[in-house]
Amino acid sequence: MNNKSVLITGGNKGIGFCTTKLFAEAGYKVFVMARDFKEFSLKNHANVETIQYDLNDIDGIPELISQLPAIDVLINNAGLMFALPYDNYPSEKISQILRVNLEAPVSLITEVSKKMAANGYGRIVNNASIAGEIGHPDIWYGVTKAGIINMTKSFAKLLGPKGIVVNAVAPGPVETDMLEIIPEPRKKAIKSAVYTGRFAYPEEVANAMYWLATDCPEYINGTCIDINNGAFPR
Ligand SMILES: NC(=O)c1ccc[n+]([C@@H]2O[C@H](COP(=O)([O-])OP(=O)(O)OC[C@H]3O[C@@H](n4cnc5c(N)ncnc54)[C@H](OP(=O)(O)O)[C@@H]3O)[C@@H](O)[C@H]2O)c1
Repeated sequence: MNNKSVLITGGNKGIGFCTTKLFAEAGYKVFVMARDFKEFSLKNHANVETIQYDLNDIDGIPELISQLPAIDVLINNAGLMFALPYDNYPSEKISQILRVNLEAPVSLITEVSKKMAANGYGRIVNNASIAGEIGHPDIWYGVTKAGIINMTKSFAKLLGPKGIVVNAVAPGPVETDMLEIIPEPRKKAIKSAVYTGRFAYPEEVANAMYWLATDCPEYINGTCIDINNGAFPR
């Protein structure tokens, strides 16, 4: 084990699970936060500790983080999408997606960065999405992901002088459970819009987040790396 620690939200499955694997293999102390660990194959790994927590509970985040040791790396990866039409989007679902996708990462950065600032070191990586750049059909998903990209810039500006590097990734569609709710015709259209006719593998996003959290130069701060294989060149 090295002497660094990482907190990964949604590190139990999908992109987050691949990220957990990378940090565990590199000897980090890995705190994995999610609601359900039934299928999580790394729960008995020596370097891994699970934290069962529902990120809908924003008010509980400060207390939760105060109970953890200093965290060197925060991966804000947990997120959800409903794929609902804008004119039939229950207000309870709007509140939920705003809380989990947007308020929770802001609160986690606010709390975790206190000890990072005291130590003069920290790395934060936020999982946004191409949805935050293109005008996504799930309007609230797009709103939250655009918010993450801007909040990444805000926190880089606020925390950069304290030795904390804050970046994001914006993946196009990735082969995880989240893809299941996208309708088939849209999936076909997305595949035909990329260079190699396939969705991203979760490992590809995990590798980018791991690099941003480890070897990436300090001078790369407040940016968002597109991982979309030509779906949205800019
Ligand atoms: N798949 C894609 O096409 C794609 C593309 C761009 C960006 N992303 C982003 O990548 C991130 C990971 O998604 P994924 O593709 O790996 O999908 P996934 O397999 O569905 O993973 C979503 C993760 O978020 C966690 N989560 C959801 N609601 C939560 C809550 N209330 N409290 C705590 N944890 C919660 C889930 O854990 P529990 O359910 O156990 O709580 C799970 O670990 C998300 O932020 C997503 O928006 C995905």
